[in-house]
This record gives sequence, structure tokens and C-alpha cells, in this order.
Amino acid sequence: MHTRIKELENQFNSELAEVTNLKSLEELRIKYLGRKGSITALFDEFKELPKEEKPKYGQVLNRLKNSTQNSFNEKKNLLSEKEKSEKDFIDLSLPGIKTKLGTNHILTQTLDQMKSIFKVLGFSVYEGPELESDYYNFEALNFPDDHPARDMQDTFFVNKDFLLRTHTSPVQIRLMQNKKPPLRAIMPGKVFRNEAISAKSYCLFHQLEGLVVDTDVTFAELKATVIHFVKEFFGEDIKYRFRPSFFPFTEPSAEVDIWWQPTGKEGRWLEIMGCGMVDPNVLENCGIDSEKYAGYAFGMGVERTAMRKYGIDDIRIYFDNDKRFLVQF
Ligand code: DAH
Repeated sequence: MHTRIKELENQFNSELAEVTNLKSLEELRIKYLGRKGSITALFDEFKELPKEEKPKYGQVLNRLKNSTQNSFNEKKNLLSEKEKSEKDFIDLSLPGIKTKLGTNHILTQTLDQMKSIFKVLGFSVYEGPELESDYYNFEALNFPDDHPARDMQDTFFVNKDFLLRTHTSPVQIRLMQNKKPPLRAIMPGKVFRNEAISAKSYCLFHQLEGLVVDTDVTFAELKATVIHFVKEFFGEDIKYRFRPSFFPFTEPSAEVDIWWQPTGKEGRWLEIMGCGMVDPNVLENCGIDSEKYAGYAFGMGVERTAMRKYGIDDIRIYFDNDKRFLVQF
């Protein structure tokens, strides 16, 4: 039995020396010290020995058990330390994980660009509320109660007197009531219309309104301002035209079209804004002397204008928050 004990101890030690991870260490423990392990089996044999032999072997067996258990524990500590430090190891030479930076929404970018074009011309930025009264949205802008022009716009009425503004033109009124001329401002913001949703129209969109009021304001200046904007925004070569039109709050009024030439398709004129000389009634509604002052105004849809510039063919895509669209800008 002595030789077998010695052999087993040597065998255990040489196998232990080969072990490189905690998993195979555990397998080794089961093989020798587990319930059915070979060292455990020696103890079963020991029980069967004649009484007088027991003290002799008892000591040797206990020594074997203790020494193998100690070697096992030592190795286990060593390997645990090693695996832990491997897990915590930071490889400074690895490339970093890229953080993705968000960007401004294309509408914000477009509005910023529009604002900066007008700022250069001395326009300041003014804002008004999205919940408006009938007075500001229609009446003060020269839409009489029974005027058919009120039907031009499908309005979300909140109650008899209040509504979600259908255009940014009411901000003109607020500006004229709150500040004395000379005035030179743009008024960006959200507007709402109760229209059937399609590729061309959405219940919510943005407009950019412009207003200039001074003593010597002319239609020629309005034209020059609009042409400057159109060229800055779409490029020097853009083809544009002014076409006579009607708005209750301007007289005379015009609409501005640009030439739209999609590749492979027939080109056509597309409307991008309305404009005109502020109707004297509107000036008077705001307490501005229409004998002394004149004004011009313009208003354009931001989504539609950006659609022309970037070749976007469905207005709904602005509001879907689809990253595949958003990351393109
Ligand atoms: N408010 C008009 C609309 O929503 C656009 C507009 C036309 C604004 C002419 C103006 C203007 O300031 O002068 O259709």
C-alpha cells in the first residue's frame, strides 16, 4: 500500500503541475479527492484493514490527503488570481469604441440656414405662440368673418375663439403691436392644418415669416430680398419667378416659384413662398400710421423648401424619426 500511496501522490502532483485553468483543476479534484476519487478510495480500503495495521497506514493516508488538499488549495488561489487579473486587464493598444454624435434634425439645420441668410440682411428673429386666437390668426390679418379666404385654410379649432395657428403671419401682428417701426424681422415656427395626410401635406409643418416696416419700403426691396434669399439658399443658378397672387393681408401680392428639374423627369414650376406689400388695413389694425409707413412681408414653408433643395419627395419622412433618413444630413 505504501508504494501505491507514493505513486498516487506523485501522479497527483505531476497532473496538478499541468493544470492551467480552474475548470481542469476542478476535474482533477474530482478525480482524486471527490466522492469516487482515487484518494478517497484508499480510505475505503483502509477501513477494511486489520486492526493492527491501521495506525501505520492511517498516518500516511492523512498526510497524503492533507498534502494533496493543500496543493490543490494553493493552485486554486493562484489560478483565481490569474483569471481575475486577465479579466480586468485593459489593453491600451486596442482601438477605442466610437461614440456616435447626434446631429441637428434636417429641419433645424434648414431653419438655421434660413435664419443666417436673413440675419446678414439685418433681420432679427421673433417668435409667437402656437395656440392663437381667431383675432390674430385671421381677423387682424384682414380675413373678415365671412370672407371666403378663411376657407383657404383648414383650421384646428380648440374652441370658438382659440385655434392652433395655421400660419406664422399672426406673429407679424404681435410684432407690430409690440414694437415701433422700423421693423425688420423673421418669424419661424410650427403651424398646424387639418388636412388629409399625404406625401405632400402633413398636419404640422414649419413656416418662416418675414416682415419689414419702415417709411420708405418698396416692392422692389421685397423682390431684391426674396431673390437674395432664393439664390443664397438654392444656389446662384436657380431659376425663379414672381407670379401675381392674392392674400387678404397683402396688396399687391405675389407668389414665388422656382424651377424644379428632377433627373429623368419633366421640369416644372413649384411654389415656395407667398409675399406682398402689407395691406394698409393691417398696419392700421396694429396702430401703425399707413400714411407714414409701408411694409412688405413674405412667408414660406420650411419642409417644402427643404424638399426642393434636398430632393425629398415625402413630407411625412421629416416626422418619422427614422435614423436611416436622419443620418443623411
Ligand atoms: N401666410 C401665408 C400662408 O400660410 C403665406 C404668406 C403669404 C405669408 C404672403 C406672408 C405673405 O407674409 O405676405 O399661406
